[in-house]
Amino acid sequence: MKRLSRLRRHRAAGPVLLIFALFTIGTTFQVASAVNQENANVQSRSAAIAEGKEIFLRGCSSCHGLNAEGQEIAPSLIGVGAASVDFQVGTGRMPMADMSQQAMRKAPVYSPEEVHALATYVASLAPGPAVPGDELLNYERDGSVAEGGELFRTNCAMCHNFAGQGGALTQGKYAPTVMGVQPKHIYEAMITGPQAMPVFSDKTLTPEEKLSIIKWIKSAESEPQLGGVALGRVGPVTEGLLAWTLGIGLLIGVAVWLAAKAR
Ligand code: HEC
Ligand code: HEC
Repeated sequence: MKRLSRLRRHRAAGPVLLIFALFTIGTTFQVASAVNQENANVQSRSAAIAEGKEIFLRGCSSCHGLNAEGQEIAPSLIGVGAASVDFQVGTGRMPMADMSQQAMRKAPVYSPEEVHALATYVASLAPGPAVPGDELLNYERDGSVAEGGELFRTNCAMCHNFAGQGGALTQGKYAPTVMGVQPKHIYEAMITGPQAMPVFSDKTLTPEEKLSIIKWIKSAESEPQLGGVALGRVGPVTEGLLAWTLGIGLLIGVAVWLAAKAR
């Protein structure tokens, strides 16, 4: 007891106790909030599944079946994964409007929250490719434009054209342009292979290689003219004429200036 009271009267006792108390409060709080976070995650996931199922029954089940099992007019969605739903609904291809040729890109019918709910519901039916996270899509930080261009030319150009502008395929189908597509949707197209497009698994193209392809597409988008000053793409004749006029104008100017100086 004597020792304790001596300790208590020690000069450092106050600060030490304070630090100890703060530490205890901090840890308790951290554990509690981690548990809360966990509960919140589970709750928001089941809420998303319930919401997704409701949207699915209203907007998709007429073609894909009440349990997404598929029927004659549309394939099963069991195991296609969140990535496929996010791509198809996020690019407006689904719900499909006209069943004639190929699902086309349109303005999306559903909000990003509804797309997330639909994707969570379909992913809850069976495992499949997930929506790629931000760490796989940071093309501004990682990846190589040169490597991406080379990979695009060997893997994608035969359908999407060397400049990524898209091209016709057989039977009236086509591969659309890849310019102006969100990085997430480019990645998802590669891992899900919509319609005539093959799936590029992580063995065929590693996540780093996929990112380089995205980086190349984004850099091609920001400089669509391969060399030369943009004149609204008026063509070589006009561009030549402009260079000629400017060049001659400059020469005349210099000549006049020299003549004036010589006098
Ligand atoms: C009018 C009929 C129709 C409706 C409505 C429809 N789909 Fe589809 N869906 C199709 C057809 C047909 C295909 C396969 C052909 C294709 O991909 O173009 C397809 C393909 C898909 C795929 C690709 C499957 C795969 O193998 O990767 C997904 C995902 C999908 N639909 C999700 C949805 C969702 C979610 C909805 C509701 C928002 C929906 N669809 C509404 C007809 C429909
Ligand atoms: C065999 C032909 C083929 C090859 C090879 C191919 N694609 Fe595709 N791609 C398609 C077709 C067809 C579609 C349209 C699918 C649809 O409309 O549902 C498509 C769609 C896409 C889209 C969606 C564009 C949009 O408007 O939303 C992207 C992005 C894409 N491809 C990227 C790639 C990349 C990157 C590669 C190479 C790694 C590649 N594709 C290889 C045929 C191909």
